[in-house]
Amino acid sequence: MIQVEGLTKRYARHVAVDNISFSVDKGDIVGFLGPNGAGKTTTMRILTCFMPPTEGKATVANFDVFEQPFEVKKHIGYLPEAPPVYPEMSVRDYLTFVARLKNLPSGDIRNRVEQVMERCAVADVAPKLIGKLSKGYRQRVGLAQAIIHNPDVLILDEPTSGLDPKQINETRELIKSLSGEHTIILSTHILPEVEAVCEKVIIINKGKVVATDSVENLKNRAGLGGATQVQIENTGDLDPVAVHQRLEQVAGVSKVLDRLTHGPRLVFEIENLQGQNARPDIARAIVHAGWNLIELKSSTMTLEEVFLELTGSHTAQPAPVAAGEVA
Ligand SMILES: Nc1ncnc2c1ncn2[C@@H]1O[C@H](COP(=O)(O)OP(=O)(O)O)[C@@H](O)[C@H]1O
Ligand SMILES: [Mg+2]
Repeated sequence: MIQVEGLTKRYARHVAVDNISFSVDKGDIVGFLGPNGAGKTTTMRILTCFMPPTEGKATVANFDVFEQPFEVKKHIGYLPEAPPVYPEMSVRDYLTFVARLKNLPSGDIRNRVEQVMERCAVADVAPKLIGKLSKGYRQRVGLAQAIIHNPDVLILDEPTSGLDPKQINETRELIKSLSGEHTIILSTHILPEVEAVCEKVIIINKGKVVATDSVENLKNRAGLGGATQVQIENTGDLDPVAVHQRLEQVAGVSKVLDRLTHGPRLVFEIENLQGQNARPDIARAIVHAGWNLIELKSSTMTLEEVFLELTGSHTAQPAPVAAGEVA
């Protein structure tokens, strides 16, 4: 449904999106995950024909975003990061206005506006001015305008940002309920959002795609998932650095992370090499060295840890300050 090939966007000398490629299948609900400044909004603005790429190609529903913007726009509903607001308009009037802009047959507009208000749980505020609504309601009005022409694809840029926890839940539920009828790509810098809403994830960092996978696979990714946690008694004469080094030498181990190297226990997180279970060898190495093994257990990584691993970002949440402001 969406094909992106070698997309690049430069602002002056700053590369915001750097040769990214990905595809989204019909019916998918995909999280476009990355820290602030990663290039999410830029990519979404290109996909929605708001600006051209510097290089590369993108198609939506088989239409080229650069060459066939009118066709693309017909097939896309877009909720921008900062939705245009018409505070002086009522919800019903605004949605009627959008329906006309999108060239819905005039005989259908009335019904369709009532339908999407119902669908997005804003019917109870239909006559209210948008400026008087809570942020949660306003965001749902934004979703209502995005789906009014029943597009194949929904592109939602940080759809829950600025909402309180209750509004976040309501908005996520609404997005999930829309996924049956639309292919959805939503951007976020918040990991739990992806876990709560999406089946697949595209992780973007500094303008580059660093992973594309199902949320499930990503967590179990060879080399990232299948980790082992080891606890060894800290007898006082034990040098944590030496233990770390010894563990790193065990066959099948790709990486050793110190979790706790003081107190009565030394705790290490050990990542296995792809497809290997290093646990028996780890146990033997510890016993052979004469250290007291307290516990050895498998531990899968959270999506957050995977994200940190892939992006090298240690401030995934809350969002780090956008880079490149000088560009
Ligand atoms: N209009 C612009 N002019 C110059 N730089 C920009 C502009 N828009 C975005 N950028 C820069 O491009 C990078 C990507 O921004 P953006 O796509 O907004 O990221 P995200 O949505 O992931 O936070 C950032 O470094 C940002 O500062
Ligand atoms: Mg953004």
